[in-house]
Amino acid sequence: STVDWDVAGAERGDHDHFLAKEIAEQPRAIERTLSGRLEERFSTAHLGGLNMDVREARAFRRVTILGCGSAWFAGELGAQLIEDLARMPAHAEPASEFRYRNPVVEPDTLYVAVSQSGETVDTLAAVQELQRKGARVIGIVNVVGSTIARQVDGGIYLHAGPEMSVASTKSFTSTVVAFALLALHLGRMRDLSPSDGGRIVAGLAALPGQIEQILDDEKRTGVIAAAAAELAPSESVLYIGRRHGWAVAKEGAQKLKEISYCHAEAYAAAELKHGPLALVGPELPTVAVVPDDDLAEKNTSTLAEIRARRGPVVAVGHREIPGAGRTLVVPRSEPELDPVLLSIPLQLLAYHAAVALDRDVDRPRNLAKSVTVE
Ligand code: AGP
Repeated sequence: STVDWDVAGAERGDHDHFLAKEIAEQPRAIERTLSGRLEERFSTAHLGGLNMDVREARAFRRVTILGCGSAWFAGELGAQLIEDLARMPAHAEPASEFRYRNPVVEPDTLYVAVSQSGETVDTLAAVQELQRKGARVIGIVNVVGSTIARQVDGGIYLHAGPEMSVASTKSFTSTVVAFALLALHLGRMRDLSPSDGGRIVAGLAALPGQIEQILDDEKRTGVIAAAAAELAPSESVLYIGRRHGWAVAKEGAQKLKEISYCHAEAYAAAELKHGPLALVGPELPTVAVVPDDDLAEKNTSTLAEIRARRGPVVAVGHREIPGAGRTLVVPRSEPELDPVLLSIPLQLLAYHAAVALDRDVDRPRNLAKSVTVE
């Protein structure tokens, strides 16, 4: 109702939209996700809510992550963190599909359900199905006391604070941070060295300040808003990345679709030549996630393929990318944690595109904040 929205208006503070406020809140949200959980002395993470002793935690051989929409994409980043840091096979899949299979449930698989609201019916159904088959399911949930939070056998609360806008932003990045804590925790009881553990602990602690820097830089330069104004009239935008950059691209495309209604599609950069390159030309801009990591050279040659077809490029990376019309530059983190920072400009890009197109940013058509019906 109007009254509720006026009250909500008061809570938006200086921001025009909840989405802008929630993007700006990410440094504090992540601080809260980390609060009391980093154990510098042992280069690990303390996660009391898992309800799991060391013997139990060490017995798991693989990890399966379930969630819907952005929670699923955060889960994909989580799976890569677990694989990288704990060297356990891990994968993420949409909870909405999992429930339609007759999944093989094994006792040595740790299942993780991801949900900001804790009320998403598909995710809840997946949890219940798993528990019926005897699985151990932990949750990564924001809303305390929500249905999924109560259903799971333990978990990690995000403590990101209330998220009002339909599009998730701070819950996405906080979820990735929660996964980094879980990966660190599982890794340090396996083969992750104290020095690598210490590197991740320091990297996590630095994230809030680095996000602040991205937000401040944008206030000063307006580069992302300018890139958004150029993208907004496009009929479609391609998002690409490799490895975790691909999951970042998926979330970036989702944000643009959801709030600007501009069609966007994310592809693994190396898949371009297997189909979508046929679409590339002056009419189809590409947003490329290109961190300065061991895959930088591969990404450079993909961008050359796009430029050769006169496709406009907006790059997100650690330094100006030659050949890109614009580069949205973020600070460097530890390579495993880079996705958190690379996601921020893509949130702002979608936000500014939606504002430029005069969309209902916080309440996009046809969508609900939590999907509690099938
Ligand atoms: C995110 O921007 C979307 N609104 C949507 O994909 C969301 O992440 C999904 O519906 C899952 O919600 P949950 O995290 O509350 O379970």
